[in-house]
Amino acid sequence: VKILYAASEAAPFCKTGGLADVAGSLPPALARGGAETAVILPLYQSVREKFGDQMEYLGYTYIDLAWRHAYCGLFQMKKDGVTWYFLDNEQYFKRPELYGYYDDGERFGFFSRAVVGILPMLGTSPDVIHCNDWQTSLIPIYLRDLGMLDLRLRNIRTVLSIHNIEYQGRFGRETLEDLFGLNRGWADDGTLMMDGDVNLLKGAILCADAVNAVSPTYARQIQTPQYAHGLDSVMRMCGGKLTGILNGIDTRRYDPAADPDLEEPFSAQNLSGKAGDKRAVQQRLGLEEISEVPLIGMVSRLVGHKGMDLVRAALDELMKLDVQLAVVGKGDPQYEAFFQDAAARCPGRVAVSVGYDEKLAMAVYAGADLYLMPSLSEPCGLSQMIAMRYGAVPVVRETGGLKDSVLPYDAETRSGSGFTFRAYDPGAMANAVSEAVGLYRSDPEAYRALQLHDMQEDFSWSSSAACYLNLYEKIVGMRL
Ligand code: GLC
Repeated sequence: VKILYAASEAAPFCKTGGLADVAGSLPPALARGGAETAVILPLYQSVREKFGDQMEYLGYTYIDLAWRHAYCGLFQMKKDGVTWYFLDNEQYFKRPELYGYYDDGERFGFFSRAVVGILPMLGTSPDVIHCNDWQTSLIPIYLRDLGMLDLRLRNIRTVLSIHNIEYQGRFGRETLEDLFGLNRGWADDGTLMMDGDVNLLKGAILCADAVNAVSPTYARQIQTPQYAHGLDSVMRMCGGKLTGILNGIDTRRYDPAADPDLEEPFSAQNLSGKAGDKRAVQQRLGLEEISEVPLIGMVSRLVGHKGMDLVRAALDELMKLDVQLAVVGKGDPQYEAFFQDAAARCPGRVAVSVGYDEKLAMAVYAGADLYLMPSLSEPCGLSQMIAMRYGAVPVVRETGGLKDSVLPYDAETRSGSGFTFRAYDPGAMANAVSEAVGLYRSDPEAYRALQLHDMQEDFSWSSSAACYLNLYEKIVGMRL
């Protein structure tokens, strides 16, 4: 099959979150699995600056979006068995940030329309366009809309991956015709409308040939009001075409034996370097350099749905366990202030680095004995998998992909991979941490066995890429 993977970010080109990790590592895995794979991304300013000299210019066309007639340049680059395409329009993408502008709707409306408009320039037509989140949600809509006139477009199947259902691309009713160039039928029949607004994600859920959530548990959760941010009935209606496929991680990038960011490399065969990484990160963050104290790591956006309220409410309880806490991340000012205050109150015990420094993040994964991720909701979550690869035993709330990737440790059978709790409650979280710390102190040998087990677990893309390839084959087979 020929796949065109459309996304608003992909590592290493441009990244604000987990979508970029997936869009950067799933396509190469699909290519290894035998699919002819291309990715299409906006040519942001930062991408042009860093990678421009490695790209080849293929030409340009004009894209019509309502009354607009906008230039669209096409660049390409080959890497990891994948063709990476970049769509150029300086008015929309030559800006310092990826998102957060007043005209984001127009920017990604243009991008989605341009993905369809540029197809004739790609040489071969894809069998499947794989869309991701609201930014590319108009692609299945445009394929249908324009497919009325262009039969070739009707043969292209679409998959929508939902990385976080909270972000739906909601815009005022008037944007339908005036911005996106679609006729009122799309509103009148409800396809693109929710609660009086245009809702791009809803439209894609209804129109895509297959919808996929980034973990099996999340696929179930988004069919319930508690997790669906208003789209639960739409998700239930589409239950027959909904799957949940757990993300993988780039196991070559995230390999403690070959990670240039680490002070000392280590592996499941030789764990000795991890002690040096612990010392190094303690020193770097100003934590007391004591090897016996369990070090808890957190690398996270500091926002509500990552469970920061639990950490705030339980901090004193955690400190009674005689542990250290190292936090790297940025986000909501109230949580940044909370961690800074906690570090001032517990010098040598709590440290925070506000911001996102990849090298420091890797140092925390490598130095930590435990990794805390108490998310309120978590579509998949990648950092618990990275932590496990680096021998930091996860303590997680049983939600979304955390539930699917961390199995509760059973002291009797010594099975499982981490410590989990269900209730969104600071006490429940503190109990799980206490259980982990208990094992760390009372049975170092069992703890070590658990670390080694986690480091060797297979979080590579190979099995998930095979699930996607099956899904593509299935929907291509449905072609009329
Ligand atoms: C989003 C989700 C995260 C998921 C990632 C990649 O960032 O919040 O849970 O791992 O997308 O799918």
